[in-house]
Amino acid sequence: MSDFARRLIEWQRHHGRHDLPWQGGRDPYRIWLSEIMLQQTQVSTVIPYYTRFVERFPDVAALAAAPVDDVMALWSGLGYYARALNLHRAAQLVISDHGGVFPRTAAQIVTLPGIGRSTAAAIAAFSSDERAPILDGNVKRVLCRVFGIEGFPGEKAVESRLWALAESLLPQDGIGSYIQAQMDLGATVCTRGKPACTRCPLADECIARLGNRVASLPTPRPR
Ligand code: ADE
Repeated sequence: MSDFARRLIEWQRHHGRHDLPWQGGRDPYRIWLSEIMLQQTQVSTVIPYYTRFVERFPDVAALAAAPVDDVMALWSGLGYYARALNLHRAAQLVISDHGGVFPRTAAQIVTLPGIGRSTAAAIAAFSSDERAPILDGNVKRVLCRVFGIEGFPGEKAVESRLWALAESLLPQDGIGSYIQAQMDLGATVCTRGKPACTRCPLADECIARLGNRVASLPTPRPR
């Protein structure tokens, strides 16, 4: 296992969150719902919405059968409403194209509306232990800093390099904890402004930190 993965998994065991309402289960429907809600919204805001949503729509069939207005009403206040429309449409596609069974491989999951490569990988990892890398904004920031990668990560060439790096770092075992660790580290320690390097398990090998470049990595969008 890469030292990167080993340290993250160990950090997650002690410092990560383990008691969120969508954690612990293996139901891809619930994990999908949580990942979509968490895309642009922070954990504390998502919790009550998530709880109400799964109570009203306990499975993908219930969601697919609901009038879109009911879905939007439960989403109201979370923002980024395209997420809710895609969610509803994806549920209907699971019924029509997947026999009502939420798919479990990242390759199948990514074909559903509103789910990109990174979110599909997270759902497949949490629900089925599939080893596929994630690369959201938080993970990009961690990788650019730890490995000293220059260039705006929104740029194609840089992003391809980051995907390849993320792929190469995947652990053989413990993929769920590893992915959760990356998300939590990026959200709570390796933050955009004022990262908490003294609490970071990767600090002693972080190229940005060692070179005093934490504030300049990732490279900002060119202007
Ligand atoms: N952001 C996106 N997915 C997340 C997750 N599973 N936990 C915490 N933050 C997240």
